[in-house]
Amino acid sequence: MKSNDAIEATITPTMTVGDDRPPSKRPVYQKDQECYPRAMRQIPVELGARRYIVSVGPGLLGRLPEVLSPLRGRTAVLVASRRVFDLHGKAVEKGLRALGRLHVTLVPDGERFKGRKTLEGLYEAFLAARLGRDGLVVALGGGVVGDLAGYAAATYMRGVDWVGLPTTLLSMVDSSVGGKVGINHPAAKNLIGAFHQPRAVVADPAVLATLPLRELRAGAYEVLKCAVLGDRDLFATLLEAPAGLGGWAAGGVESAIASACAIKADIVERDEREGGLRRVLNLGHTLGHTLESVTRYRRFTHGEAVGWGMVGAAAIARERALLSRRTFEIIADAVDRIGPRPRLSDLPTPELIDALGRDKKVKGGRVVFVLPTTVGRVVVRDDVTRPEIRRALRTMAAREG
Ligand SMILES: NC(=O)c1ccc[n+]([C@@H]2O[C@H](COP(=O)([O-])OP(=O)(O)OC[C@H]3O[C@@H](n4cnc5c(N)ncnc54)[C@H](O)[C@@H]3O)[C@@H](O)[C@H]2O)c1
Repeated sequence: MKSNDAIEATITPTMTVGDDRPPSKRPVYQKDQECYPRAMRQIPVELGARRYIVSVGPGLLGRLPEVLSPLRGRTAVLVASRRVFDLHGKAVEKGLRALGRLHVTLVPDGERFKGRKTLEGLYEAFLAARLGRDGLVVALGGGVVGDLAGYAAATYMRGVDWVGLPTTLLSMVDSSVGGKVGINHPAAKNLIGAFHQPRAVVADPAVLATLPLRELRAGAYEVLKCAVLGDRDLFATLLEAPAGLGGWAAGGVESAIASACAIKADIVERDEREGGLRRVLNLGHTLGHTLESVTRYRRFTHGEAVGWGMVGAAAIARERALLSRRTFEIIADAVDRIGPRPRLSDLPTPELIDALGRDKKVKGGRVVFVLPTTVGRVVVRDDVTRPEIRRALRTMAAREG
């Protein structure tokens, strides 16, 4: 097991994805190939041979022949849930048909279907479509469909290309970038998985108009996480959004998506397979996962749990004097501004602490926490004590709305 010092030495000197970099080193939205249309933001994920572009722009799902033109001529299988296909599938289907032979397969909607049975259905659909090694899987939907279709693509014929068309805010800023794909097992969420980078990601913020507000907020907590990790400007953008996010201006959403993707891309480029640095993306997730698992994934959206977890992590950092009292308040207020979160004060502390010990983020028997030291900087610690966790839970409960 690495000592705390070793972890910090790995993380801190390279964890300058935010304000400390000169402007020339900050993520930029680059124009890539000539064939990509203008009027969109493009975030390259520089992974050598696995390099790809995340394109962000309103209306892009209606411009797929243009945006995905480098993939022209492939046989493709479009995977979506009925719900998302009915809302946004027609334009996507038309665009993909203009690019090559297309089959559409619909999967049931929801986390409980991110499992083996749906996966097997996808393999059958790929076979029926005669998808070959040069085929393409296109995932249209939230993180569930992206993880599932991406994993099917990772494993079918030892791996075929896939493209992500994320339709929730969470999937645009988080799950579609970074190549983690997988399915759930009855024993645990995301237990079966792989790293399989997409060939392209196209995020069209216009589709968020049909997303329920609670789902939009769920994604916004992940955007806030990226801001706290490494982007003060993004933090400021979020503070400009209306409290509760009702009527969040389209331009603000688009720029938040692009900035959050740039942060995630930057981290993934430096640690594709979660050897060290990528763990900082778990800010808010240690206590967040615990809240989700103790309530059997029924009470909180993932984002809401992460929001609570960020308050908890900031509380621990404040108590250790790693974070100033004022910055603690600024971060906790920013979490609260996103919207109301389900209560947690009724959850028994011993059960929460027990569940923490069973989390995937336990290394060598120690729970790993990502702690903010200011807006735009974090450290990783594995020596957080039970009393500290108890006090953090009390601070969190005191902020219930
Ligand atoms: N791979 C990763 O790195 C990673 C990271 C974070 C989360 N995840 C995974 O992502 C999943 C959660 O993703 P999610 O929050 O997107 O949930 P989700 O995919 O379940 O989508 C939420 C709901 O919104 C609906 N929906 C999607 N787009 C819509 C739209 N534009 N309008 C109306 N309704 C729409 C969906 O049909 C679904 O009912 C989890 O399984 C989680 O494990 C993966």
